[in-house]
Amino acid sequence: MLEVKNLKKHFGHIEAVKGISFTVEKGEVLGFLGPNGAGKSTTMRMITGFLPPTSGTAIVCGHDVQKDPVSAKRAMGYLPENAPAYDSMMVTDFLRFAARLRGMSGVALEDKVEATIHKCHLLKVRNQSIHTLSKGYRQRTCFAQAIIHDPPVLIMDEPTDGLDPNQKHVVRSMINDMAAEKVIIVSTHILEEVEAVCSRAVIIANGKIVTNSTPDELKSQSKNGRLDEVFRRLTLDDEDDAYKPASAGEKDAHKLSPAHKEDM
Ligand SMILES: Nc1ncnc2c1ncn2[C@@H]1O[C@H](COP(=O)(O)OP(=O)(O)O)[C@@H](O)[C@H]1O
Ligand SMILES: [Mg+2]
Repeated sequence: MLEVKNLKKHFGHIEAVKGISFTVEKGEVLGFLGPNGAGKSTTMRMITGFLPPTSGTAIVCGHDVQKDPVSAKRAMGYLPENAPAYDSMMVTDFLRFAARLRGMSGVALEDKVEATIHKCHLLKVRNQSIHTLSKGYRQRTCFAQAIIHDPPVLIMDEPTDGLDPNQKHVVRSMINDMAAEKVIIVSTHILEEVEAVCSRAVIIANGKIVTNSTPDELKSQSKNGRLDEVFRRLTLDDEDDAYKPASAGEKDAHKLSPAHKEDM
């Protein structure tokens, strides 16, 4: 249902994405994992047609995003990184605007906006301006924008980044509720997310896929069943060797959480 075919992106001399291919079927939630700067957002922007690839393409429900971008975009909902939205709009008006952009009007539009406000737990803030929302509500408003047209394919870039545990739980529940009906890709560098929502994980580092497997298969690569140890082993490059656990070893794995990578 979604096929990513050898996507590459160069920014000048930077090779941000170096040939990424994978497929995702309906009912799958694919975790798109990797350290900061690995190329997750760039890949998602290319899949969703927001950024032209240097080469390669994505086929979304049979539509090539390069050759037939309108049909491909119609089939997708996209929650970009940092949940961009129009700050001065009220939540309800923003969702009406998103629904109009998706071709809805009249009673059908109002019904859809109401249903989406309920589904995304936005009742309390529906009449608030977006700039007054807490991060969790802002994220959910942008999530609502992404699903307003009930797309078969949903692409979410770090949907729980910076949320508190309760807010994360709500977003993850919303993803799980939709999982059976859609193709979903969720990027994250939060490993607990993989176990909470993903049926499969693609890990990328330096613009390339280093593994594509189920969370259980990944965990089985560590003696202690620790995803963070597997993630670190697969994604640390030579410059980071000093932080690599000894090859035997997971004995020191607790000393470096993946969060340390964010500061590097
Ligand atoms: N518009 C851009 N111009 C130049 N370099 C970019 C641009 N966007 C991303 N990059 C670079 O591409 C690499 C991948 O970035 P990104 O896709 O944002 O990674 P991730 O989302 O995994 O953190 C990084 O080295 C980043 O600095
Ligand atoms: Mg990113």
